[in-house]
Amino acid sequence: MAEFIALIPAAGSGSRMGEDIPKQYRPLVGKPMIYHALRTLCSVTRISTVCVVLAPDDTEWVRHDWDEFTGKIRIFNCGGATRAESVTNGLKELRAANYAQDRDWILVHDAARPGLSTTLVEQLLDQLADDEVGGLLAVPLADTLKHMNDTGRVMRTESRKRLWQAQTPQMFRTKLLLEALEKAPTGITDDASAVEALGFSPKLVVGNAYNFKVTYPQDLKLAELILRERATTQN
Ligand code: C5P
Repeated sequence: MAEFIALIPAAGSGSRMGEDIPKQYRPLVGKPMIYHALRTLCSVTRISTVCVVLAPDDTEWVRHDWDEFTGKIRIFNCGGATRAESVTNGLKELRAANYAQDRDWILVHDAARPGLSTTLVEQLLDQLADDEVGGLLAVPLADTLKHMNDTGRVMRTESRKRLWQAQTPQMFRTKLLLEALEKAPTGITDDASAVEALGFSPKLVVGNAYNFKVTYPQDLKLAELILRERATTQN
């Protein structure tokens, strides 16, 4: 039986947040941001291991208490210059330590998506466990898309028909994901696009808006609201 292993790349600097502290450690409801996704992934019983990829010079992780996750998490200080590099390095460490075999599933999840729920993870596992390729959580685009020219004016309006916004987790088998990332074109911003570049077509599994990526300072308030509501209901 293939195992399910989560991998959280958490080696970014989060420069768009405009803070000294990396985004994944910004406090949210009294905990560092990464805590929330970590807690969700660790609480899914089908997931055997949750691997966290930190920057080699990370000094923040050890400042916090992670005891409740002991036995389920593995920490690797092998983050790279890009998200793709951090995921690739984490995968190589997982294989070197014999935690992940070729056919095991890897669920890559951004540390900056604290609104992930166990329900969404379970739906992703249910829909992809028997899939040939793998896939990702995503939501159909709601807004109208504008293409901008060099002077900040609208060049054209893009059709949003069949357009989806990619989220994470993105779930692929170890061997395919590693091969895809090693051959990936530069500049990719998610795992699925590396797999697509090999000619595969990942499956879209419907996510929800709560699983958005905290990117700008104003996103923190929204994430707090979602997490506070999560404490009373499960969504
Ligand atoms: O910067 P962005 O929001 O796209 O980052 C998405 C995820 O990738 C975050 O969890 C971030 O910590 C991680 N990342 C990483 N290594 C990098 C850049 C980003 O692990 N060099």
